[in-house]
Amino acid sequence: MYYIGVDLGTSAVKLLLMTGDGKIEKIVSEEYSLYFPHPGWSEQKPEDWLDAVLKGIKELTEGIDKTQVAGIGAGGQMHGLVVLDKDDQVIRPAILWNDGRTQEETDYLNDTIGKDKLRSYTGNIAFAGFTAPKILWMKKNEPENFAKIAKIMLPKDYINYKLSGVNSTDYSDASGMLLLDVKNKCWSKEMLDICGITEDMMPKLYESYDITGTLLPEMAKELGLPESVKIVAGAGDNAAAAIGTGTVGNGRCNISLGTSGTLFISSDSFNVPPDGIHSFAHADGAYHLMGCMLSAASCNKWFMDQIIRTSDYPKEQEGITDDKLGRNHVYYLPYLMGERAPHNDPFCRSCFIGMTMDTSREDMTQAVLEGVAFGIRDSLEEIKRLGVDVKKSMACGGGMKSPLWRMIFANVLNITLTIPETEQGPGYGGAILAAVACGEYSSVQDACDKLIRVTGEVKPDPDLAALYEKRYQTFRKLYPALKGIFPEL
Ligand code: XUL
Repeated sequence: MYYIGVDLGTSAVKLLLMTGDGKIEKIVSEEYSLYFPHPGWSEQKPEDWLDAVLKGIKELTEGIDKTQVAGIGAGGQMHGLVVLDKDDQVIRPAILWNDGRTQEETDYLNDTIGKDKLRSYTGNIAFAGFTAPKILWMKKNEPENFAKIAKIMLPKDYINYKLSGVNSTDYSDASGMLLLDVKNKCWSKEMLDICGITEDMMPKLYESYDITGTLLPEMAKELGLPESVKIVAGAGDNAAAAIGTGTVGNGRCNISLGTSGTLFISSDSFNVPPDGIHSFAHADGAYHLMGCMLSAASCNKWFMDQIIRTSDYPKEQEGITDDKLGRNHVYYLPYLMGERAPHNDPFCRSCFIGMTMDTSREDMTQAVLEGVAFGIRDSLEEIKRLGVDVKKSMACGGGMKSPLWRMIFANVLNITLTIPETEQGPGYGGAILAAVACGEYSSVQDACDKLIRVTGEVKPDPDLAALYEKRYQTFRKLYPALKGIFPEL
């Protein structure tokens, strides 16, 4: 049988076709627009996602025996607010995970409602990117739109709803709404009341590997697939990526280097997180801790595309030879869209610091790659405060294709990076969830044990790690020194 994995990302949707024994037969990708209507705001049109997914599924299944497609599982960009009216029309563009417009609402939740109460209702405190502050923003700034809300959903749930007609979500993605009582896996009545919404607007909750429905007849017809194709609940993209790299069970780590950058630690039980870190449900039925940077591989993409104006990223990295690592005097702060973990600050901005007359284009490129690794190290330091010791991590996402960036990460974090056979984390995870749901494997753990293969390891070098340790100690002084200036920018 075939399983379709969907990675509903921020720059594109990537779809892959997996056989029951885990082989990836084909990968396709469809791009869509991202809108920044104000500095720091970030929106997309749910209809664009749907068009891209339908186009992608058609391309993916071209020429195969379509009766063999058994299930579809999606990993989606998290936190985005999708609102539909009583006629199931999208009310306004989705407000995305990296949108920073909700400082006022985030402050209201953290300071007026209070962090202790938020933690007791949901397990987490408020971050500007979470869904609940976006709902409060809409209530205040777009009351006419707010009054029309009949359904609230997350990005991948919109796709699943259109495919199956079932308004569902899964616990991992729902965790990032700040509306779910994560530990007890139910909607928080208190949070729904605070946001002025009701439970009948919310999707029904499932485990990620549950079947929520089958293809609607009109969708089956449009896609040329059987109506029996199962739609599974799926997961937030980070939990799906963790499945796709075999990061299940207790104390395993995955680092994902995509538009966002995340450090993800799987856990058997729910942990109360430190302020900068999230504590969410995992797609294997358990829990996880996560630190999320809003701009990760996107920092390099921005520097290459917009500033240096090149599409040949590997060539730009050729000049960054081993002797330059750990010795760069230029620092880069990776805050192009503000920052989530650990600063929780939508106002902070990117900067280069430390240039001299001999600073080269390579030094600045290197500073960007290092700044992103230092940002992930900030999350690692927070997670260590919970007594979690990370010595090894899986690595996935487009940025991890760069051998240089992997080496910088291994040494800045002073851990061994394990490279999986496929870097298609969320899409592969989505397909695995579909295969588990359709009975191909007895559990997510069973599927990961059988399917996840690694191709290599990157170990830190003690001397280089020591050089980076020194540089990290300087990096971590920069944000506090600049914090007060950012709001003036
Ligand atoms: C996680 C987060 C990002 C998005 C990116 O909390 O906001 O990783 O899910 O798609």
